[in-house]
Amino acid sequence: MPYRFEVDGWKQYVMNWYDPHRQLEAPEDEIAAIGQALEALVAHGVLPHSGYDMALFDAHRAAVRERFDIPWTAITPRMQRLLYAINAIAQPRVMVAVGVFCGNTFISNAGAAIGPGACYEAERVVGLELRTEEADRARSNVATLECPEGYGHNRVDVEILGEDGMPWLRAIAQPIDLLYLDPDGPRGVGKSIYLHMLEAGWHALHPGSLVLAHNSVNSAHQLSDYLSYVRDSARFSQSVNVVVDDQGLEVSLV
Ligand SMILES: C[S@@+](CC[C@H](N)C(=O)[O-])C[C@H]1O[C@@H](n2cnc3c(N)ncnc32)[C@H](O)[C@@H]1O
Repeated sequence: MPYRFEVDGWKQYVMNWYDPHRQLEAPEDEIAAIGQALEALVAHGVLPHSGYDMALFDAHRAAVRERFDIPWTAITPRMQRLLYAINAIAQPRVMVAVGVFCGNTFISNAGAAIGPGACYEAERVVGLELRTEEADRARSNVATLECPEGYGHNRVDVEILGEDGMPWLRAIAQPIDLLYLDPDGPRGVGKSIYLHMLEAGWHALHPGSLVLAHNSVNSAHQLSDYLSYVRDSARFSQSVNVVVDDQGLEVSLV
């Protein structure tokens, strides 16, 4: 059931975290790399197809580049495209992202539902960030995508909350269709907090829910319990480690 997909040369694909909009390769190479990753997810039954609107993705990317204040980010251009495409294809009604920092990770997921890259009608998209100053920055960033009609062409409920994701997930009564995990716990806990987050929100997941975990490559050691959990066929029907850059994304289907 667990599977690892690698783009050739992923180790050489390295970004400067303080220069996130720099193009690292020809656009057709980025499109091809993510196309291969999406095909791998289709082949393993995680996604129904690999098609997404690339013009809408370009509009999303341009808006983030022009309007967002991003002090740094480890979300590479490939990862930005992959996250957008997974959301555009899976079309989660409810998307929850935990550990959104300045909002770039949030919008890489939610950009398929809000703003100029919106391609479907979601019901609710939520970003959770423990540090209130970063939550405020994320909220301001996301607000730049608002237009008089709302966030794009639909009436989605958009929330950026300066809160601990753990109690919030424990309390949620609504089903979550896509859960994105990117928090890092205090010293000594680090990325091993992912498993606790997943357990906190487990009751809200349902067959067909997707769980995305950033840092499946560079934090694989800290994530070993989490990765064992999502790769256990008693809990998840599929789990694919998508290695498009030196960070990686574990994509798991309940
Ligand atoms: C390393 S950052 C993620 C950065 C992201 N990968 C990027 O490249 O933009 C992790 C964030 O998770 C937040 N965080 C840590 N524990 C959290 C929790 N329990 N609930 C919500 N956010 C949390 C931290 O404050 C931090 O901003």
